[in-house]
Amino acid sequence: MTDEKILAAVDPEGPAPEDGELRQYYFLRKMQEFTAGRAKTLERKMTACVVTFGCQMNFNDSEKLTGILKTAGFDITENEDADFVIFNTCTVRENANEHLYGRLGEVHHLKKSDPRKVVAICGCMVQEKSAAEKIKKSYPFVNLIFGTYNLYCFPEYLYRCYHGEKHICELWDKSSEIVENMPVLRKYPWKSGVNIMFGCDNFCSYCIVPYVRGREKSREPKEILREIEKLADDGVKEIMLLGQNVNSYGKNLPEKTNFAELLAAAAQIPGIERIRFMTPHPKDFSDDVLYVIRDNPKIARHIHLPLQSGSDRILQAMNRHYTKESFLELVDHIRSIVPDAAITTDIIIGFPGETAADADETIDVVKKAHFDNAFTFIYSPRVGTPAARMEQVPEEEKKQNFDRLLSVVQETAKEQAKKLQGREFTALIEEMNDQDTSFVTGRLSNNMIVHVKGDPSMIGRFYRVRLDDCRGFYYFGTALGEMTGPDVEVR
Ligand code: SAH
Ligand code: SF4
Ligand code: F3S
Repeated sequence: MTDEKILAAVDPEGPAPEDGELRQYYFLRKMQEFTAGRAKTLERKMTACVVTFGCQMNFNDSEKLTGILKTAGFDITENEDADFVIFNTCTVRENANEHLYGRLGEVHHLKKSDPRKVVAICGCMVQEKSAAEKIKKSYPFVNLIFGTYNLYCFPEYLYRCYHGEKHICELWDKSSEIVENMPVLRKYPWKSGVNIMFGCDNFCSYCIVPYVRGREKSREPKEILREIEKLADDGVKEIMLLGQNVNSYGKNLPEKTNFAELLAAAAQIPGIERIRFMTPHPKDFSDDVLYVIRDNPKIARHIHLPLQSGSDRILQAMNRHYTKESFLELVDHIRSIVPDAAITTDIIIGFPGETAADADETIDVVKKAHFDNAFTFIYSPRVGTPAARMEQVPEEEKKQNFDRLLSVVQETAKEQAKKLQGREFTALIEEMNDQDTSFVTGRLSNNMIVHVKGDPSMIGRFYRVRLDDCRGFYYFGTALGEMTGPDVEVR
């Protein structure tokens, strides 16, 4: 059933349905009545702003929050001056938390001049007890706090915010169900993330995600494929399948299936021209997935394969379940089956016990694996994780190793980028160039960015492009014409 049909089926005059999506749609109907009334007194529609921190999962969740707000009758704005503002938070590293506190300070000022403003916080950070307590104590002007497991209850909380409750804090410690069919407002008409699973069971010793997102839970393949078909009908051309460890997809489903099967089925859906996925775990990367990628040109020639460390000792302490050697073998294997794939990675420097020699091992992997790009992070202790209780590396040492790593990462990425010079590829044009509006910016299947002369009509379409001028991590190129056929390219 579509959102509109479910919405039309609820009776706002009757009692609230017990639970599930119907209950939430009931509160959405109630909110529509409320916002319509308030719009009359304000002589304008109520406005809402969703601020997102963190990963693709959170961006995806924010599209749900935005969809709910829009359906409830708010105009969506990017301005935190709005009548309702919600922060969807991340807590993967301490600086993500700091960032939120900074923004809350600014919002407090806005709220002083508009006491009717409602401020809400949701997402990963508030799932941490200490952070939620700190917000309640130090930022008492925050009206609504809810976590990752009960995001779908947002319509009900919204209703309560506007019907007498000044402070609501609803934090669950696990989820009982996956609620499908909530409204969504996509940021981009032509691309969308698609959750295929929630949570994570890997418990890498540095990582807070399993604690704030809970146990791994896969969505039913038919629900996922139905969502993708709906997106295709809506004009979406590129999807990104999202999960913390996509290659363990399907593990806990009653019907036997796996990620390779899901990927192959998604590639059959007409209208979807490009499929990305994030994130696979090196320990579970199976050959079937590589063969599906090889045989389906619609699947992006880009594999993000988080390394985290190149030192066997550190990898073991991180609970990653692979070695430097097996990781390098996997990279070679990927390149032997999908030679045109770009491989990018995530690396953490400064994990407890890491020495300069361990960092050298990581640098050695960067050189040998020829990563097309790497996101490098300084280790940030997260309360409650095993690594936070281990002996920490002094800041200065972390910093030195980080700088050494970063220069090798940059060099390697540039060398990889240069290999594409002069070649032709297919780019999906994503946006106007923010420096020069006579240019548009596109992305190749292998994730390389290219700027070409163009205009806004090109956005959301595929063009054949030639890569002329390498500027390190991106290219200036020439658009050769719009593509109508499949996205085939050889690196
Ligand atoms: N599930 C994905 C992504 C997890 S979070 C994966 O396994 O890769 C994204 C990245 O943040 C991780 O890959 C890791 O490099 C980094 N990260 C996670 N916890 C961190 C911490 N405590 N300190 C620094 N970086 C961290
Ligand atoms: Fe965190 Fe590891 Fe799970 Fe990724 S796989 S989310 S790094 S615990
Ligand atoms: Fe951050 Fe939560 Fe994603 S902690 S990285 S937003 S899963």
